Amino acid sequence: MCGIVGYIGKRKAVDVIIDGLKILEYRGYDSAGLSVFDGKKIVTVKKKGFVGELEKNAEGLQGFCGIGHTRWATHGAPSDSNSHPHLSGKFALVHNGIIENFDDIKRQLKEKGKRFLTDTDSEAAVRLIDDMYEGDVLKAVCGAVKKMKGSFAFAILCKDFPDKVFVVKKQSPLVVGLGEGECFVASDCMAFSKYTDKAVYLKDNEVGVVDKDGLSLFDFNLNKKNFRTEKTDIGDDYRLSENCSSFMYKEIFESPKALQYTAADFFADTATQKQVIDIFSKHDKVIMLGCGTAYNACLVGKNVFEKMLDVDCETELASEFRYKNPKVNSNTLVIAVSQSGETADTIAAVKLAKAKGAGIAVITNVRHSSLTRFADVVLHTKAGAEVAVAATKSYLTQTLMFLLVATLLREGSKVSEEIKKQILKLPQTAEQALKFDALMQKYAKKHCQKQSVFFIGRGMDYALAAEGTLKLKEVSYIHSEGFAAGELKHGTLALIDKNALVIAIATQRNVAEKTVNALHEVTARGGKVILLTCFEKLKDTKGAEVILLPQTGGLLMTAPAIIPLQLFAYHMSVERGINPDKPRNLAKSVTVE
Ligand code: M6R
Repeated sequence: MCGIVGYIGKRKAVDVIIDGLKILEYRGYDSAGLSVFDGKKIVTVKKKGFVGELEKNAEGLQGFCGIGHTRWATHGAPSDSNSHPHLSGKFALVHNGIIENFDDIKRQLKEKGKRFLTDTDSEAAVRLIDDMYEGDVLKAVCGAVKKMKGSFAFAILCKDFPDKVFVVKKQSPLVVGLGEGECFVASDCMAFSKYTDKAVYLKDNEVGVVDKDGLSLFDFNLNKKNFRTEKTDIGDDYRLSENCSSFMYKEIFESPKALQYTAADFFADTATQKQVIDIFSKHDKVIMLGCGTAYNACLVGKNVFEKMLDVDCETELASEFRYKNPKVNSNTLVIAVSQSGETADTIAAVKLAKAKGAGIAVITNVRHSSLTRFADVVLHTKAGAEVAVAATKSYLTQTLMFLLVATLLREGSKVSEEIKKQILKLPQTAEQALKFDALMQKYAKKHCQKQSVFFIGRGMDYALAAEGTLKLKEVSYIHSEGFAAGELKHGTLALIDKNALVIAIATQRNVAEKTVNALHEVTARGGKVILLTCFEKLKDTKGAEVILLPQTGGLLMTAPAIIPLQLFAYHMSVERGINPDKPRNLAKSVTVE
């Protein structure tokens, strides 16, 4: 949540910062701001609204060094004044994270006569640094951060050092890009990947100075630290082509490629395969955890593991797990799933499990993300950059990763060519599912005024229903719920009348007809039903509009079933005049609690 950018070098800072902020808008988009040295002083512009609004107001700003921010409000409503950068004395600061004890800091500074101008926690940080400054910025910053509780990535300008950007990290992500005679700072290396592919990922409790020639890094006691420069390998995925106006739409259509790369990479990576076999051999219980869509991928994972392996397996919402006293010990393997690898709840859950002795496997789409630092094994999905807030192609690669791992564990390191072939066919099936695009648009036109949409299924199909409903509500703002089909009659059926739309999913042979029974209970009460099934014999199901999906075999049905639902959510969003890429109140990377 919130995106940070910084620049020092030979280019116009404002251009680099605006370009970077636009790329980081997925992290928050309720307001944006920037500060640059114009040669004499720090000039700051901040605006409520998208980065485009800031761009109009920052036009013509001169200078080669600056910082910028795109915000997802935690403390204080979105407004010009609550936007970052926050200013105090000689300092301008942008912040990603939460200063949990900001009230105490504020009170103490107020007692010393300091005035506060915003409702944010971040202003407390810059005022504290300013208060502790006696000519040495790093000393002031380290002194201040030692008094702060919470999470923070800061980029800071100080008027006395017009050619430097100061950086600090604790829990929120921060990466420095090293160019030729220029350097970049960002929450995500996508923001500068068009200029350089050399990056330094800061670790927790590190503070640094960035100038045009590079980075100097220290711990909070100002001991110098070494760092490793990594090569970033970001493709072009994070930009829209001229003929596509939505990331969500583009990313749904990238699913075949994402599935293909993920499977091919896994089958080729014998080192990771060995690690997987090894770590599973040491644990006899599995807990899969994640948040939101990543959690829904775990629901699919549990179904896959239970069907393919003889393993004791549970799923947990990371946000709940972290506050429980979970039964976890050195026999437990936690599989944490996170597209971004930066979700605060998931990281906290993993830390807790690790402290109790659990083994940790991480399924993530971002190789250098914070979560990977706690992992014994990293399972890297190859979905490519996913920018839209709604997770689509990443979800499919997460579910595929569970299938790949289960296949490996069942078959041993020599997975037969026949099985590989079946899995490698998945991208093709995804292509077939994309052909439902026009049909889903038609359904969206027809149903976009519905006030409630229910998704039902059993077993694996229930897991898919959970994801179908999340996708729809987050981008269309329509009330929606996912149910185990057998549960309808235990209460929810009371909500069904002629205004309700129910989407039933029946892709699993052993329960498909049971789901159809539930569907009849709905139509008998006047509800409208769309049935997604891969079984020919259900294609004339009375009272339902049937979508006949390609048949791939039970555990491979995630892609063909979920892609039409993702397309449905997308078109519902568009029909309702919503921007599917930037749904209200949300951000892609949830780095705060
Ligand atoms: O980056 P993560 O996968 O850890 O994010 C977890 C959730 O915030 C995320 O899956 C969210 O539910 C989706 N963006 C919804 O589409």
